[in-house]
Amino acid sequence: MSIIGIDLGTTNSAVAATDAMGITTTIAARDGSRTLPSAVYFEPSDEVSIGARAKSMAVMEPERVAMLFKRGMGEKTFLTDGSAFAVDGKVWRPEELSSLVLKKLKQIAEENLSEPVTGAIVTVPAYFGELERSATRDAAEMAGLPLLRIINEPTAAAIAHGFGGGSRSENVLVFDLGGGTFDVTIMRVESDGEMTVLATGGNHKLGGTDFDSAIIGIMAERAQTELGVDILAEDWMFSDARDKAEEIKKELSTTDSVSRPLQTGQRPYMFTMTRAEFENAVADTVEDVSDTIETTLDDSGLSASDLGTVLMVGGSSRIPVFASMLKELFGKEPTFTKNLDEDVARGAAILATKTSGSADPRSELAELAIPTDVASHGLGMTVLKDGEAENEINGLIVSAGTPVPAHGSETFHSVADGQTEVRLRINEGDDEDLAYCRPLGEGSASFGRPVNAGYPIRIDVAYTEEQIVYVQAYDGETGTLIGEVTIKREGSLSGTEKDSALAAISEKGVR
Ligand SMILES: Nc1ncnc2c1ncn2[C@@H]1O[C@H](COP(=O)(O)OP(=O)(O)OP(=O)(O)O)[C@@H](O)[C@H]1O
Ligand SMILES: [Mg+2]
Repeated sequence: MSIIGIDLGTTNSAVAATDAMGITTTIAARDGSRTLPSAVYFEPSDEVSIGARAKSMAVMEPERVAMLFKRGMGEKTFLTDGSAFAVDGKVWRPEELSSLVLKKLKQIAEENLSEPVTGAIVTVPAYFGELERSATRDAAEMAGLPLLRIINEPTAAAIAHGFGGGSRSENVLVFDLGGGTFDVTIMRVESDGEMTVLATGGNHKLGGTDFDSAIIGIMAERAQTELGVDILAEDWMFSDARDKAEEIKKELSTTDSVSRPLQTGQRPYMFTMTRAEFENAVADTVEDVSDTIETTLDDSGLSASDLGTVLMVGGSSRIPVFASMLKELFGKEPTFTKNLDEDVARGAAILATKTSGSADPRSELAELAIPTDVASHGLGMTVLKDGEAENEINGLIVSAGTPVPAHGSETFHSVADGQTEVRLRINEGDDEDLAYCRPLGEGSASFGRPVNAGYPIRIDVAYTEEQIVYVQAYDGETGTLIGEVTIKREGSLSGTEKDSALAAISEKGVR
C-alpha cells in the first residue's frame, strides 16, 4: 500500500511519498531526475514517451509532441490557434494528455516503492475553476489513479514548507509563478496548525512560457532585421528557438548577458540578450502580477504589514525581478521554499498520508491540520432580472471566498403562466453581468405539470472541498426534487467519450 502526492505542472511534474512517520521523499525516475517534463511524444510505434525524450523530440517532430496542455484543461484544446491536437487521426484532449503524464508518474512511483499506489492527491493551481478541476479529476480516473482528493498548489507548498504543523500563528502570502500559471494565495495559519485560505488570485494563462515567448519575439525581430531570415518559418526552427529562449531566460536569472546560436536553415544566428533587455521585455507582465497581488491583498482584508511570510514557489520565482517586486510591496525579503521544484508534490504527499489515515500517531503528521480552502470563483445561475426576457443576469448562489465545502440555496421564480420546465444555466463568476462570467454548463428541471408565473423553484448548489459543483432543483412549494440536474460541462468529456478515451489511454504503453 502506498500513498503519493503529485504536482501535475504545466511544464514539469513531480511525485513524492510520505511514510507513516512523516518522512517525505521526492521519487526519482530511473535516470535519477526528480522532475518530469510534462511533455508527451507519440512514438511511431504504439507507445508514448513522457518526459525529457518527449520534450527533445519537439525539434524533430513537433506535430507528434504535446506540451503545455495544462493550459487547456477544461477546454477542448490547448493549442493557441484553437485547432485540435491530433496524432495518427486521433484527437488528444488536454485531460487525456494529462492522464498519460499521471500514468507515467504512477509507474515511476510503483517501480520505486515496489508497491501499487493505493491513494493519491493531485494538485491544481488555486485559481483553477470548476471546469479545470473536474477535467483534472477525469485525467486521474483515466490514468487509473485512486484519487483521494485535489488540493491547491500553494496550500501544498505551504505545508511542505512547514506551515500547518503548529507553533507560530501568522498570515502567509504564497507567490507561485510556474511555467504556465500564476497564483497568489493569502492564508492565515493558526498556532494550532489550522490553515485557512483568505483569498486567492492569479492568472492561469501567465507563466514562464510567456517569458520564453517574449524572448522568441525579440529573436525573430532581430534575425529578420540583421540577417533577413525568418527563424520561425519552420516548426523545427521554432522549437529550437523555444528551447534556446528558455535556456537564455534561466541563465539570465544569475548572469547579466547570455548568447546562443539559433537555427536559421542556413548559417546559425548568434543571439545575445542582457538581463536589462529581458526585464524590459517582461515589464508589463511584472506590472500585471503586482496589480493582481494588490487586488488579492485587498480581497483578504489585510494590509501589507499584516503579512508574516511571503513564500515564493515555482520555477519562475527564480527570476530576480519578482523577488524585488515583492520586497517593494511588502518591505521584507521574500522566502524561497526549500525545494522550489518539488515542494508542491511533497506537500501533496504529506497531506495524502495524513488524510488516508495511515500516519503514525507519534509522527509530526499527527499535529498537522487539514487546511480549509475557499471557493476561488463565485457561482450563479442565469435568471431574468425583474422577469424581463431581455434582461438576463447571473443570480449569485455562492460567492467567491466562501470556505469549501459550501452549500448555497436560492429560490427563483417561473416567469410565464403554463410553464412546465425551467432551463438551468450555471455560471462561474461573482458579477451580475454575464459578460464577466463563464458558463459552466446547462441542465433542466421539470415541474411535471404547468405552473403559474411566479411559481418558486429552489436551486441547491453543492461546492465540494475540491470545488466541483453539483446542482439540484426542487419544487419551491412541495420541496420535492424535480429531476436531478446534470451539469453538462461544455468543455469536458461525456460518459461515452470518457470510455473511448480510457480505452485509448490503456492501450498506450508509457515509457
Ligand atoms: N533559473 C530560472 N530562471 C527563470 N525561470 C526558470 C528558472 N528555472 C526554471 N524556470 C522556469 O520555471 C518554469 C517551470 O516552473 P515550474 O516547474 O514551477 O512550473 P510548473 O509547475 O510546470 O507550472 P505550473 O505550476 O504553472 O503548472 C519554466 O517556465 C522554467 O523555464
Ligand atoms: Mg507548479
